[in-house]
Amino acid sequence: TYVIAQPCVDVKDKACVDECPVDCIYEGVRSLYINPNECVDCGACEPVCPVEAIFYEDDLPEEWTWYKDAATDFFAQVGDAGGAAAVGPYDHDPEGVAALPPNK
Ligand code: F3S
Ligand code: F3S
Repeated sequence: TYVIAQPCVDVKDKACVDECPVDCIYEGVRSLYINPNECVDCGACEPVCPVEAIFYEDDLPEEWTWYKDAATDFFAQVGDAGGAAAVGPYDHDPEGVAALPPNK
């Protein structure tokens, strides 16, 4: 799966959302999250993020590997909805993301 990491926090550009063919990029409070169960690894989102927040899971910088678990946490709450448009912004962030200092 692909993973959204720290640069998205408080930025939420959402260019990635328009690229995803399966609508698996969901909005939390401070960041967006890719559903690892729904992502088909097409990679279309990765180059369009203006702050380079998106990584293939194996390519995450060491300090950001925990964002993979953060996404798992997020979708434990949200579930596998089969499309972000139907869910809309969701009032939740994983603890690690919620606790980050402001990113702007
Ligand atoms: Fe975030 Fe980049 Fe998408 S800032 S919302 S991962 S385009
Ligand atoms: Fe969508 Fe990016 Fe996965 S465009 S299918 S979240 S690699």
